[in-house]
Amino acid sequence: MIIPRKAQTAADVAAHYNDLDVFYREVWGDHVHHGLWFTGRETSAEAAEALIEYLADSLMLQPNDHVCDVGCGYGATAEWLARNRSVSVTGLTISAVQAQHAAMRAAKSPLLTFLHQDWLENTFEAGSFDCVVAIESSEHMRDKQLFFDEAYRTLRPGGRIAVYAWLARSRTCPWEERYLLEPICREGRLPGMGSMDDYREWATKSGFVVDGFEDLSARVRRTWTICAGRFMRKLLTESKYRGYLMDSKAGNRIFALTLVRIWIAYGTGSMQYGLLNAHKPRA
Ligand SMILES: C[S@@+](CC[C@H](N)C(=O)[O-])C[C@H]1O[C@@H](n2cnc3c(N)ncnc32)[C@H](O)[C@@H]1O
Repeated sequence: MIIPRKAQTAADVAAHYNDLDVFYREVWGDHVHHGLWFTGRETSAEAAEALIEYLADSLMLQPNDHVCDVGCGYGATAEWLARNRSVSVTGLTISAVQAQHAAMRAAKSPLLTFLHQDWLENTFEAGSFDCVVAIESSEHMRDKQLFFDEAYRTLRPGGRIAVYAWLARSRTCPWEERYLLEPICREGRLPGMGSMDDYREWATKSGFVVDGFEDLSARVRRTWTICAGRFMRKLLTESKYRGYLMDSKAGNRIFALTLVRIWIAYGTGSMQYGLLNAHKPRA
């Protein structure tokens, strides 16, 4: 696993999403995750929804299932799942700003509940959920084993988990770690970035049976070309963006540079993106 040279705490993660709230929403939208392209002709909004649909299909969700969305962002995934799969969703985010946005969605749907809460300190009873989904949130957790242990505990026997994760390729070279992966973790507030092997091991150690782990890097990396382009246009046209970058007190402004590192890291294959599917055995 890639570990940043400065430890990243849950408070750092929350501050990242609180500080960059407006930028995330203006540059990319309410889905704070990659898009998934199959034909290459999809708009970014269509690609973002395609990523959720792909996960929902992999879970074979049934109407009335109770899903936990770990690291739910603005609640857009939960809303999509409730509307398109008739499931109820409980979402957690560590960001107070995201939780406020998500609460507005919950006010319009009895199927949605959102909590401003750390997954690693959750108080759900054992067996509370039929499915657990985590879209790009496990990377932000200091203890990945605990992340999976909690998913296992809170799932009913036979329950399923689907995790989209930013991944470091196995057996990285020193230059990739130094110029790409370590800074991406530090600047992007990831306490650690695991490889596919790491994720398999954590899931298995918790008791899960891994059903599949798909490398989707080639289908998602276009996200960063689009984000970098949009961010550059915002810089040229909106003084708010230039002001934030010039503000020496804005600790998370470094993420503008991270965008470029991530784009390069996908190009070199240093970084990967995967969907892990697993289930909790019935017995
Ligand atoms: C990249 S965003 C993804 C958001 C959402 N899943 C989506 O796809 O739009 C990462 C999310 O993980 C959440 N997160 C990170 N660490 C967390 C923790 N320990 N407990 C709960 N949520 C966490 C953040 O608050 C944020 O909502």
